[in-house]
Amino acid sequence: MDDSILTGASEVLRQIRSRGVVPVVTLADPSDAEPLAKSLVRGGLSIIEITLRTSAGLEAIQRAARIDGLLVGAGTVTDADQAAAAIGAGAQFIVSPGLDPAVVRACLDKNILVIPGISTPTEMYAALSLGLNVVKLFPAELLGGTTMVKTLSALDREISFFPTGGITLELAPAYLQLPSVIAVGGSWIAPQPAIDNGDWRRIERLATEAIAISGALR
Ligand code: 3PG
Repeated sequence: MDDSILTGASEVLRQIRSRGVVPVVTLADPSDAEPLAKSLVRGGLSIIEITLRTSAGLEAIQRAARIDGLLVGAGTVTDADQAAAAIGAGAQFIVSPGLDPAVVRACLDKNILVIPGISTPTEMYAALSLGLNVVKLFPAELLGGTTMVKTLSALDREISFFPTGGITLELAPAYLQLPSVIAVGGSWIAPQPAIDNGDWRRIERLATEAIAISGALR
């Protein structure tokens, strides 16, 4: 593993923040993990969130985790067993669509960064009471986008957001300009048709575009 990727939740958080955008992908075939991840790295974006929405997810994480310099997370982690399996497969951060205290504890016990999804102030306060200060705002665009981020941020100065859901290259800059946003996530960087067609060059180009807007705003 690349020396620049250190373990520990706070270091991983720093690295996510420095990248600013996180491609969220769902793979049907785990052997797509290497060419996909390498196309992102070639494009300048060395991070990937692989969801557990398919049975290929864990093996895809395992394969991606072998690529030097790539920060690999697991997405759509919905129970503590999945969290443990994803961490065992090499995931360096765990993302959930919702807030399950068992998932949060499974990750905190191992000093693995966990970013659970929230969509209301009540859920945000529940995350804070579990000791978290970074949450995924999901589905961000449906919830009001940057207006919702600003509204929730005004309630608590410590909380930071990782908005995903409906974000595009055009919408991302408005989020990245907000001090409480650590990064945005989305499938637009590695769209499903491009993955299915093995169009790695397109994904490389989209990664370069994404890192360019993030780099300009960070
Ligand atoms: C996620 O799990 O974060 C979302 O599926 C990504 O949302 P998007 O496909 O709308 O970008």
